[in-house]
Amino acid sequence: MLKLFLKKGKEKKVKHFYPWIFRDEIQRKEGKGIVAELYDFEGNFLARGTYSPKSRIAFRVLSYGKEEINKDFFIKRIKEALELRKNIPSNAYRVAFSESDLLSGLIIDKYAEGVTVQIRSYPMEELKDEVLKAIVETLKPDFVYERSDFKGRRDEGLKEFKGLLYGNLRNPVLIKERDLKFLVDVKRGLKTGFYLDQKDNRAYVSGLVDENSKVLDLFCYTGGFSLYCAKKGAKVLGVDINEDAINLARENAKLNGLSAEFLQANAFDFIQETTDRYDLIIADPPAIAKTKKEKESILWAIWKLAYYSFQKLKRFGRLFICSCTYQISVEEMVRQLRFAATDTGKRIIVKEVNLQPIDHPYLPTFPESLYLKCIDSVVLN
Ligand SMILES: C[S@@+](CC[C@H](N)C(=O)[O-])C[C@H]1O[C@@H](n2cnc3c(N)ncnc32)[C@H](O)[C@@H]1O
Repeated sequence: MLKLFLKKGKEKKVKHFYPWIFRDEIQRKEGKGIVAELYDFEGNFLARGTYSPKSRIAFRVLSYGKEEINKDFFIKRIKEALELRKNIPSNAYRVAFSESDLLSGLIIDKYAEGVTVQIRSYPMEELKDEVLKAIVETLKPDFVYERSDFKGRRDEGLKEFKGLLYGNLRNPVLIKERDLKFLVDVKRGLKTGFYLDQKDNRAYVSGLVDENSKVLDLFCYTGGFSLYCAKKGAKVLGVDINEDAINLARENAKLNGLSAEFLQANAFDFIQETTDRYDLIIADPPAIAKTKKEKESILWAIWKLAYYSFQKLKRFGRLFICSCTYQISVEEMVRQLRFAATDTGKRIIVKEVNLQPIDHPYLPTFPESLYLKCIDSVVLN
């Protein structure tokens, strides 16, 4: 097995449960392989994990002991992950969230009786057969569909890929989250088909409305937030630029016997132009912020959405705004809301800050695992 020896001092982060070692932190290597053992400068064992020959992230921790990395290892990890996810009010949830479940490089999502996987590292790709066998044995799915159409794979020297790995898939898949049904396009949908990470925020937001509420759901995708609010009797309009998503949102409304309205449009233009007044505006824009420029544009989007939303909300109306990138902090989001409030002459309060649900665990020792932040603010004047 490959042995990696760290530069002096670099062992501290591993001892503090940070799961990545960068290439320039390695002093020397002994042997070969994609499964590796990590040692400190003096030769003391630290962890077992995988080695990526091309990526900047050279080593990823899979175990702080000397566990064999094989099918049984993946079965054990999946069972541990399921323990944490016992009380999820949905038959669709993230079974394994990479580093957060000590499965760095692997994402497993369950959609009713089926499963999607995403392989994010070169060594995990090499271990795919073992992973697949473990999934089939533990989760007994009708199908396993791979959604490795993820650009980050290029850093690992891997191509993007999607396709059926096991069983029969009848797409779209019908899932049930609390008392709502959704059709999920696991082949072409965003992420692996559904925003599983917003399940608790959808319930939270539905608690803010009743049959007298008027709700605008910007970036509504297939209608998640919209239908939760419509179920409470609110008058809802969902807006998204993606035609397939809007069509599925309309189907989802029908499926649940609800009468939300959906519009294919640019949300930034819509919020600027609408002359209506709302009790609740939800804004869940897409966010990729790898570069400084991309980060600036997301911060600007938060400001712009808040700037117009604050003017289109009734007194005591709520803006529920989200950011789904690690690079933007809660503090930065609050700052943008503060700027937007002063620019519009509005006084606001920040009522709640919501993070990720239990099936997307946030490890404080691995800050990169916290990406989703949503802020509920109230307009006072
Ligand atoms: C983070 S997802 C929203 C997820 C959704 N809130 C849910 O819970 O299912 C972002 C959505 O923004 C849409 N989108 C991207 N750019 C847009 C734009 N300029 N105007 C409207 N929608 C846009 C995408 O099609 C995608 O559905």
